[in-house]
Amino acid sequence: MGGWALIPQLLIYCHGRFMSDGPQASNPVNLPLAELCEEVTAQFTARFADEPRWIVAAPGRVNLIGEHTDYNGGFVLPAAIDRYVVIAAGPSEGETACLVGADVGEEASIQISGVIEPGPVTWASYIQGVIAGFVARGYRVPSFHAVLRSTVPLGGGLSSSAAIEVATATLLEAMLECELDPIEKALLCQEAEHKFAGVPCGIMDQFSSVLCEPDALMLLDCRSQACRLVPLADLDVTILIANSNVKHELTVGEYARRRAECEAAAQTLAVETLRDITREQLEACREQLGEVNHRRARHVVGEIARTLEAAAALAAAQWQEVGRLMYASHASLRDNFEVSCDELNLLVELAHEIGEAGGVIGSRMTGGGFGGCTVSLVETAAAESIAEIIRQRYFQQTGIQPTLFTTRPARGAHRVK
Ligand code: GLA
Repeated sequence: MGGWALIPQLLIYCHGRFMSDGPQASNPVNLPLAELCEEVTAQFTARFADEPRWIVAAPGRVNLIGEHTDYNGGFVLPAAIDRYVVIAAGPSEGETACLVGADVGEEASIQISGVIEPGPVTWASYIQGVIAGFVARGYRVPSFHAVLRSTVPLGGGLSSSAAIEVATATLLEAMLECELDPIEKALLCQEAEHKFAGVPCGIMDQFSSVLCEPDALMLLDCRSQACRLVPLADLDVTILIANSNVKHELTVGEYARRRAECEAAAQTLAVETLRDITREQLEACREQLGEVNHRRARHVVGEIARTLEAAAALAAAQWQEVGRLMYASHASLRDNFEVSCDELNLLVELAHEIGEAGGVIGSRMTGGGFGGCTVSLVETAAAESIAEIIRQRYFQQTGIQPTLFTTRPARGAHRVK
């Protein structure tokens, strides 16, 4: 098995998400996409003694605002990040596919035909789930072997699992010489996550990995599934991601519980989703809903409004307003929706302390919560010093090394070869 690098950290798999054994959770390596593709090609050749016939890439995402709104029919405003899952593959003999997960140093044999049932969740489940989706739609998947690498931090709330799913779907499109409708492709990947990873996620992550474009955020209406690009091409403004490098065990169970609470609130209010109620209607039904579900619904209704306001403010380059909305989003996720944690709150407070004077526009937790990352908008010229201050202060107060990196909105999934 020589010739391919292993990331020397122990990654364990827990409840369908990558979890780490400690503070060094995120993949330490970052490589530009072209170099990542070269490395994966070399690893493929070392393992399978051949050149890959196909190479595909699918990015992770960062959500600027609109959290826990997707499964409520609301709006989200994510961008693809320039961190990718890359798969290099070639045709093989036999009745299965052989996959090398180069980051975890494991190989898996995957079913490509017949009735495919979900098994215990491992990194290969996401790939298996997408293959199952193609098979269920009548495609005959030929046997193949492949090497997978990821520069999307694993388990950091930046959609590493959606990136694996969307990369797999992109690979199958290349192998089968077909092109799915992008929305169908994203939905097929979401279905894989539901059925094969057991996570009842919304549509944001898979839509972002499929549909995002460079230099833009994507305003996605999760009810109609229509999206509009909001340019973020101003080179003076940069997205800074801070990975808390903690992941609390609650993640999947609490996510499902929040989703159930929102659905219960919508049912009490006799609407299909929380998208369909106004703030006034919500306040009038406070007693009916009960304290907890009322707070959950208040987050969702407020966050949907904030997302639309932020998209408008971004388009008008009203940065102060964008910042205000990001902090308000964080406060609501912390207090009303209760999906933040001490480490995320600290990262946001540290950014807030640096403030406008130091070049911070706004900051909030991003993704499902209970650990993972914050997203901040910062002035490009100050990005490096902001990252350094946050890194030092976070370490001083928690003893944990965070990982900070900047990104520009990147290109969605595509075939490289
Ligand atoms: C996770 C889910 C998404 C979305 C976010 C919260 O990332 O996969 O569908 O619900 O949490 O906004």
